[in-house]
Amino acid sequence: MAEKNRNFKKRIAVTGGAGFIGSNLLLMMVPRYPDYLFVNIDCLTYAANLSNLSEIDSAENYEFEKIDITDYAGLEQCFNKYNFDSVIHLAAESHVDRSLIGPALFIQTNVMGTFNLLELARKSAVSNSDFRFLHVSTDEVYGSIETGSRADENYPVNPSSPYAASKAAADQMVRSYHKSYGLNTVITNCTNNYGAFQFPEKLIPLLINNIINGKTMPVYGDGRNIRDWLYVEDHCRALDLVFHNGVAGSVYNIGSGSETENIILIKKICAILEKKTGAGPFDKLIEFVKDRPGHDRRYALDSSKIKNELGWEPSLSLDEGLELTVDWYLSQSDWLKKCTSGEYVNYYEKVYGDRK
Ligand code: NAD
Ligand code: DAU
Repeated sequence: MAEKNRNFKKRIAVTGGAGFIGSNLLLMMVPRYPDYLFVNIDCLTYAANLSNLSEIDSAENYEFEKIDITDYAGLEQCFNKYNFDSVIHLAAESHVDRSLIGPALFIQTNVMGTFNLLELARKSAVSNSDFRFLHVSTDEVYGSIETGSRADENYPVNPSSPYAASKAAADQMVRSYHKSYGLNTVITNCTNNYGAFQFPEKLIPLLINNIINGKTMPVYGDGRNIRDWLYVEDHCRALDLVFHNGVAGSVYNIGSGSETENIILIKKICAILEKKTGAGPFDKLIEFVKDRPGHDRRYALDSSKIKNELGWEPSLSLDEGLELTVDWYLSQSDWLKKCTSGEYVNYYEKVYGDRK
């Protein structure tokens, strides 16, 4: 701990660092910025896995604090302990289907948790007017986007699920803290991520896990909903750029432009797994099931602002990213087994049991 008190150039609270995107972000940023201190604040829900971070957990510029962001007093103690100058806020309940079953937790964590962090940032900004607050959000706040158009940062907010509404509410709180208190905020709204460490409730790892285990692949509705898939490391590079160079009070959309119908994506994953395992064909496992209520038809972002202002570009095509992702899951059977035992079995039954 003595080492952690040394004079770091930045002292950053990273919330939700044990989740999917948080783990990828910390694994990228901790070694890249040895003169910054990163404190991972996470209460370790079902979606978290500290073993994701084994490569950095003994790094001199990394600390972990098990705190629930809805616990204001716990957070305040942590802010006092580390004297943060920035927050990168990723902690959230992140899965749409869970928000349909139990919206209350989404309001608690995503709205009230964000409010707590904003309050502590506002207090910290009294003595440090540069205090930076990066709020990591989603393209789901815009709702379904009509064919032929793309949502830019001024597109109307029109969320469909309790998850999306809770993120939209948090985004608006962040905006208000910039306008009312001059807090140095930046917001990012990103499309669907995929890659290593994603919990197998989300479409891509769920499909891979089901194929590996010979289970059917549940496709909601007609399978023609469109998502714009972005490899998680490309998202993390964008967050790094926005954190450092984004203009205070700004919003940045982050998308890959590789819009794909779910059924096309599913067939791509089947083909990659057939090639890698020599087994299959796997598309016989496709099973069309009852649609998700309020299911947004299409997500599509206009990301020209981050490209033009900050020079960001996605580095991988969807096909390249999917190959890497399938390889990762094939090599991580223990990780997958740990996620899919226990609570997951009940979750799966609850969400998919009456969909057939
Ligand atoms: P995730 O569900 O994999 O991880 C969320 C993390 O937050 C977990 O480690 C969990 O333990 C932690 N957490 C949850 N509630 C908490 C609480 N009350 N206190 C402290 N920690 C808590 O989520 P993810 O996919 O990594 O998403 C991270 C962020 O990025 C979220 O804010 C999400 O809305 C946003 N986002 C995700 C995607 C995507 O495709 N996954 C796309 C755009 C934006
Ligand atoms: O767009 C960004 C959002 O992407 C993030 O904010 C969310 O945190 C993240 O969960 C993700 O939301 P989606 O609802 O788009 O992702 P999901 O993986 O749940 O679903 C992707 C698509 O696949 C969607 O059209 C629903 C469909 N689907 C999903 C599951 C889990 C199925 O057809 N079958 C399934 O079993």
